[in-house]
Amino acid sequence: MHKISKLGVLTSGGDAPGMNPCIRAVVRTAIYNNIPVVGVRQGYKGMIENDMYDMETRSVSNILSLGGTILKTARCLTFHTDEGMETAYQNLKARGINALVVIGGDGTFTGALRFSKKYPDIAVMGIPGTIDNDLYGSTYTLGFDTATNTVIEAIDKIRDTADSHDRLFFIEVMGRDSGAIALRAGISCGAEAILLPEKSTAIDDLIKQLKSGESNKKSSSIVIVAEGDKSGGIYDLAEAVQKEVKNYDIKVTILGHLQRGGSPSSFDRILGSRLGYAAVKALINGHSQKMVGLEANHIKITSLEEALTQHEFKLEEDLLEMVDVLSI
Ligand code: F6P
Repeated sequence: MHKISKLGVLTSGGDAPGMNPCIRAVVRTAIYNNIPVVGVRQGYKGMIENDMYDMETRSVSNILSLGGTILKTARCLTFHTDEGMETAYQNLKARGINALVVIGGDGTFTGALRFSKKYPDIAVMGIPGTIDNDLYGSTYTLGFDTATNTVIEAIDKIRDTADSHDRLFFIEVMGRDSGAIALRAGISCGAEAILLPEKSTAIDDLIKQLKSGESNKKSSSIVIVAEGDKSGGIYDLAEAVQKEVKNYDIKVTILGHLQRGGSPSSFDRILGSRLGYAAVKALINGHSQKMVGLEANHIKITSLEEALTQHEFKLEEDLLEMVDVLSI
């Protein structure tokens, strides 16, 4: 069994609310089990640049409510080179670190898996941390719930303006190639249509739907467009629709980076705590090259290989059908 002498913890890729509760759980579970912990700043960049510090129980006091990540994060391309990995490995060895918890999305896991295959004496455990909710092996990823709530709050405000002015808003939300945020936010805000990367939407059908809303005396309409949608970009889409739907004044809003920060929801605080605790326990029990996730409210351990090759977010067609019915 791989005995952990010292544990490194890092966050990498886009920040996500819930990362801090997760870091707190990792640090305290390790210390509780007499394993010293080192925090790596800025993800893999800090491993290469030797930017790491010893963490104590009090290093993670009062961070449950904080958005972002106290360890900072980065998208580090150098880590994907052999030289970058070798430098990172030597830095870990020099500090006596032989296990890593990496919190992030698929890019983070790809790096972790390659690194651990090259240097199997460093055990790695992944924790799904991304607002996109697109990792196999966990029904929810850290940050998805908070980001969706943030999006809902913003769209509710836009609805006030849309309604007051009889306007049609096209609103773009994040999610990279995943429509998870768009779908959840769309249902929660009563969107008239939701455009997702997982399903192509014929523009004629969209126009028909919006026109029928017009004739049904709707005073406003909201169309949510996931950033990964392939209908040709939100501005072109809005322009094409405006030509046909005359009574509404059409506006475009791109929510952008306001979706990623902010204090984590109760759900993300609990998810972060559970996954951080489970990741350290899994490492102690000898697991490596795996990811801890939550499925049916139970901790599930999945190999990183599987997490990277499968896709979790399967479009729930029944939810989209429901949106069409409820928005008449
Ligand atoms: O993966 C999280 C995410 O916010 C995506 O939804 C989005 O496409 C991307 O990161 C934006 O990345 P950046 O902050 O590097 O521009």
